[in-house]
This record gives sequence, C-alpha cells and structure tokens, in this order.
Amino acid sequence: MKLSRILLTIALTSAVAFTATAHGDKKDKSPEGQAAKYRHNVFGMIGYHFGPMGDMIKGKSDYNKDTFSKNADALASLAVLAQNGFEVEGTVKGSRAKKKIWEEKDKFDAGIKMFADNTAALATQAKSGDMAAIKPAFLKVADDCKQCHKSYRAKKK
Ligand code: HEC
Repeated sequence: MKLSRILLTIALTSAVAFTATAHGDKKDKSPEGQAAKYRHNVFGMIGYHFGPMGDMIKGKSDYNKDTFSKNADALASLAVLAQNGFEVEGTVKGSRAKKKIWEEKDKFDAGIKMFADNTAALATQAKSGDMAAIKPAFLKVADDCKQCHKSYRAKKK
C-alpha cells in the first residue's frame, strides 16, 4: 500500500471512530443501541436545562425567576424519564455508560431515584424565588450529576 493510501485509511477510520463516540451508532436498532440513544437524548436535554440555571447561580447571567423555574420543572420531568434509559441491560459502542450500572442495579436505581427527588425539590424551591433556598437545592442536584458521572460514566475517549 502506498503511504498516501495508508494515511487516508487511517484518517477515515479515525473519523468513523470519532462519530461513533460522539453520537453513538444511529443505525443500531438493537434494544441496547436504542437505549443508548435514549440516554444521549435525555441527558442532552438535561444538560440543556441545567446550564442556564448554573449560569444564574454563578451570577454569569441575571437571575430570572420564571426562566429558572421553567428549567427546573423541565429538569425534574427529565430526571424521571432518564430512569427509562437504563432498563435494557448492556451498553454499546459510543455509549459511556459503564457496565457497573447493571452489575449493581439496585444501588444505581437508588441513586437515580434520589436525583429525581432532588430535582423535584429544586423545582418546588424555584417557585419561591428565594435564592437562599434555591441555591442549596441546586447544589444538591449538581452534586448528583457529579457523583453519578464519577461512578457510572466512562471518561471521554
Ligand atoms: C444516576 C446517574 C446520572 C445522573 C444523576 C446524571 N447523569 Fe449525566 N449521564 C449518566 C450516564 C450513565 C451517562 C452516559 C450515557 C451513555 O453514554 O450511554 C450520562 C451522560 C450525560 C451527558 C452526555 C449526553 C450525551 O450526549 O451522550 C450529559 C450532557 C449529562 N450526562 C449531563 C448531566 C447533568 C447536567 C446531570 C445533572 C443535572 C446529570 N447528567 C446527572 C448518568 C447520570
């Protein structure tokens, strides 16, 4: 094989590997592949709603009670939905969910249930508009993200 050919092959192979890592395999119709897609979608939306609240907490953007509350409500709904993404046992290429999730499913389920409870509490506090109560509720949720990722989400490849 000519050197240019080899380089092209390497370039194409890594491009494909990158796509699979970033977005999963969209053509994967297996139950595991579909569940991974569900997780990418639901956590993508979770990130979408979590970000603006974080900016307000950090003072990066002005606090707006209605916007904050709308995001908190959406997050609480999504935290309930997220539990569906782990019903099918196993993981696929492109997914960062660790096998450990299904090896200790009871412990994982307790954690994700607590996440749902804490997001519901945040949504309730958000309606008060009282930052002294909102902030600790938000930090609790942020800690849930961090702890769960530390235990159950693989590092980016
Ligand atoms: C109970 C565990 C758990 C909690 C709590 C959790 N996550 Fe995750 N998150 C995961 C796992 C597992 C993945 C990897 C899913 C996969 O790749 O199959 C993930 C993936 C993600 C992703 C990447 C989505 C994609 O494109 O694949 C984002 C963004 C994310 N989480 C944000 C958050 C935020 C923000 C919070 C808190 C508000 C949060 N997560 C709470 C377990 C959790």
